[in-house]
Amino acid sequence: MYAVVGATGNTGRAVVKELKALGESPVCVVRNPDKAKDVLGADTKFAVAELDDRAGMEKAMAGAKRVFVVTGHNPKSDVQQINVIDAAKAAGAEYVVKVSGGRDVIGPNVESVNGQAHYRIEEHLKKTGLQWCILSPGLFMQNILGQAANIKDQGKIIQPWPKDLPVALIDVRDTGALGARVLREPGKHAGKMYTFTGAATTFGEFANVIGEVIGKPLTYVTITLEQAEAGLKARNMPDWLVAHLIAIARAGGQGAFSKENTQPIRDIVGRAPITTRQFAQDFKGAFG
Ligand SMILES: NC(=O)c1ccc[n+]([C@@H]2O[C@H](COP(=O)([O-])OP(=O)(O)OC[C@H]3O[C@@H](n4cnc5c(N)ncnc54)[C@H](OP(=O)(O)O)[C@@H]3O)[C@@H](O)[C@H]2O)c1
Repeated sequence: MYAVVGATGNTGRAVVKELKALGESPVCVVRNPDKAKDVLGADTKFAVAELDDRAGMEKAMAGAKRVFVVTGHNPKSDVQQINVIDAAKAAGAEYVVKVSGGRDVIGPNVESVNGQAHYRIEEHLKKTGLQWCILSPGLFMQNILGQAANIKDQGKIIQPWPKDLPVALIDVRDTGALGARVLREPGKHAGKMYTFTGAATTFGEFANVIGEVIGKPLTYVTITLEQAEAGLKARNMPDWLVAHLIAIARAGGQGAFSKENTQPIRDIVGRAPITTRQFAQDFKGAFG
C-alpha cells in the first residue's frame, strides 16, 4: 500500500493522479479533508494528520509500505518531515521517496533555511535504515502562476530573475509522473537521487511563450533583489518566506537552476518533459 504526505499540494496531487492512473489507490495523508475531496476527488482514500502529530501520522500511514513525502516551505519543515519519516518507519514503511530542492541550494550552510532543512532531512532519511529515493526537481514552472495578476492587469512579468539567464524549469506534473513510478519500483530506484528538469529556457522566452498563447505580448521586467524584497514585505509576507525567496533568486542569478537534465524524465516516464508552451496552454485560463 502507498501513502502520499502533502497530497493536496502542487506536487502531491500530481503524484496521486499518476498513481491512480497506474492503477494504485494511495492513502492521501492530509490536514484538511474538505480541501482534499475538492482537489483529489471524493473517491480518494484519505487519512487526516498534521505533519507535527507523530501519533496521528503513524496511524494515518498504518499499513503503508511505500510513502511519498512532499511538504511546503516553513521554518519547521525539517522537524515536520523528520517526524513524518520516523512515523512512517514506526508504522511499518519500507521505502520513502522525498521531494527535495535543487542541489545548489541544499546544504548545511546555504542561505535558504529551507535548503538547510532539506539537507538535515536527507541526512536523517539516509540513516533510518529505510530504503529511500530523493527527488531534486528544477525550478517549478507553476511558480509563474504567482505572476498571474501582473500578467492580467499590466501585461508584465516582474521578478528578480534576469531575462536572459538560462533556467531549466520543470512542470510539477512531470515530478508527479516520475515520483509515482519511482515509488512503485524501489528495486530500481532505492538509494538513488534524481536531479531532473525540463528543457532549458530563459524567463524572457517563457514570457514570450505565455504571451503568444494568451494572445497578448508580455513585457518582462527584471527588478533588483532589494526591490523584490521590499515588494514581498509590502505584501505582508512573513520574514522567513521573504528571506527564502530572495535566497533562491540570488542563487538562481548565480546559475543554481540553469543546468538542464531531462534524462530522468525520458528514462523513467518514457517521454519528453512538458514544455513551457504546453504549460502555458494548460494554464492559460489563469493568465487570460
Ligand atoms: N517551488 C519550486 O520551484 C521548487 C523547486 C524544487 C523543489 N521545491 C520543493 O518542493 C516542495 C514544495 O512542493 P509543493 O509546491 O508541491 O508544495 P505545496 O504545494 O506547498 O504543498 C504542501 C503540502 O503540504 C501540506 N502541509 C503543509 N503543512 C502541513 C501541516 N502542518 N500538516 C499537514 N499537511 C501540511 C499542504 O497541505 P494543504 O494543502 O492543506 O496546505 C500541502 O498538501 C518544497 O520542499 C520545496 O523546497 C520547490
